[in-house]
Amino acid sequence: MRTLRSVAEAQTACAHARAEGKRLGLVPTMGALHDGHLSLVRSARAQCDVVAVSIFVNPLQFGPNEDFTRYPRTFEQDCGRLEASGVGLVFAPSPEEMYGPPEQRATSTFVEVPGLSDKLEGRTRPGHFRGVTTVVSKLFHIIAPDFAFFGQKDAQQAVIIQRMVRDLNLPVRVVVCPIVREADGLAMSSRNVFLEPPQRRAAAVLHRALMRVQTLADTGERDAAKLAAAGRQVIAEEPLAHLDYLEVVDRETLDPVDTICRGALVVTAVYLGGTRLIDNVLLHGVGQSQGPRMSEG
Ligand code: PAJ
Repeated sequence: MRTLRSVAEAQTACAHARAEGKRLGLVPTMGALHDGHLSLVRSARAQCDVVAVSIFVNPLQFGPNEDFTRYPRTFEQDCGRLEASGVGLVFAPSPEEMYGPPEQRATSTFVEVPGLSDKLEGRTRPGHFRGVTTVVSKLFHIIAPDFAFFGQKDAQQAVIIQRMVRDLNLPVRVVVCPIVREADGLAMSSRNVFLEPPQRRAAAVLHRALMRVQTLADTGERDAAKLAAAGRQVIAEEPLAHLDYLEVVDRETLDPVDTICRGALVVTAVYLGGTRLIDNVLLHGVGQSQGPRMSEG
């Protein structure tokens, strides 16, 4: 496994792999890797000849009062896990390598998907998705992967990136992989390490709320407002949890829906103390299939 620190090295190594006719897969991450990340690596390994994983805690997607400086960084351990998973290339640049010195950053170029980026997460985290789409565009240009792998865990991020790829005709296929969960249903996340034991126990409430909505939908409830209210009620019953939002939205436009006849996405964000967790579940409409989704770039 090669670890590449500079953009130039990464471009050369990836160009080399492509020149040999290898199918190149990219898994963008911010490190502090867990089994959710590794499931993306496994999908990439199954579909590509060479897998590149980027590890970059992207300052551009953190708000001024967010957890950029205390975001967990476990680089040595991450590399061990990636090596054992058959990853060929790790791209781990510094913020300066990606964005230049701090004083230049105010005049940078950004890639933005307005509209989709302003909803849900974007309401609480203004500028977050502009940071995500900018860094992911840069990674796509540096690595030039044939396939890029993202998790359904960050459902809005996946929708926005698919839209960016479509709108800008980027020559990459985006693969969205299912959410990997702990035994009690909590979606794996690098931020789960911030939870104190009582908060960690309470955090299972996100999944419980989503399962309540899914069960109601499975038993015939189609009214999105009633489904959302039932989910919010489950969160309200957990004293350590504070709801940011729980909404039933269209899986592509992310706009609220009235009924779930054609399928819908149930998304939630909840605070446990100072830690903000997100989760979601897809409600399938009649005749819609489950499993990983791929969109043409
Ligand atoms: P990060 O939070 O490190 O996540 C990297 C990828 O892993 C994302 O596509 C995310 O959706 C996926 N992932 C995280 N937890 C998962 C889980 N429990 N199951 C399945 N997939 C999971 O998302 C980011 O980093 C950044 O925004 C990034 C795209 C790297 C841009 O900086």
